[in-house]
Amino acid sequence: MRKLRVGVLASGRGSNLQAIIDACSIGEAPAQVTVVVSDRAEAYALDRARQHGIPAVHIHPSYYGTKEEYEHRIVLEMREYGVELVCLAGYMRLVGGVLLDSFPDRIMNIHPALLPSFKGLHGQRQALEYGVKISGCTVHFVDGGMDTGPIIIQAAVPVLSGDSEEDLSSRILEQEHIIYPQAVKLFAEGRLRIDGKKVHVLDGSGQ
Ligand code: GAR
Repeated sequence: MRKLRVGVLASGRGSNLQAIIDACSIGEAPAQVTVVVSDRAEAYALDRARQHGIPAVHIHPSYYGTKEEYEHRIVLEMREYGVELVCLAGYMRLVGGVLLDSFPDRIMNIHPALLPSFKGLHGQRQALEYGVKISGCTVHFVDGGMDTGPIIIQAAVPVLSGDSEEDLSSRILEQEHIIYPQAVKLFAEGRLRIDGKKVHVLDGSGQ
């Protein structure tokens, strides 16, 4: 079966990258990660990629004069490896026009909150500080805003009294590792249709 070629952009530890790699390797998603790009040389995500024989590329943003030039470099790298879907996995930068125009409706992100609540940094901390009783995570397509794109899948978890930020983050992370590979699978199977702010999930027969 033909495998969708996925490029991952990550800034840190890369546990979501690992979940996607694992799902692809056991055939859960008809996809393969063909390149991992990071804006941080020390990102463990790059080590994970190397451990799996996946090309791991560090692109230093401040080496480039503008965000556009930096993103052009990323696009070149993604094209080199035939990327059809870009997954942001703990990528801590706002995606700009060059990447968006190069991969229209083909960039996904995972966010550690139930969007549209608690956008931006530290979604888990924001949820705790607000006092919500339920939080979770969201996989969405990326548009020009901060965590505003059409929502693909969400998972909810309880916020328990006495939770630390770490407790809640790890409860959410478990769900992230489930729903991100699911979203990649649905995309790879051609089962996601964007309709304005809505994403329709087609059943296997294309309905
Ligand atoms: C994950 O919790 C992800 O949801 C979050 O960063 C973490 C990365 O972990 N992303 C954001 O906050 C984006 N706004 P990982 O590097 O182990 O996948």
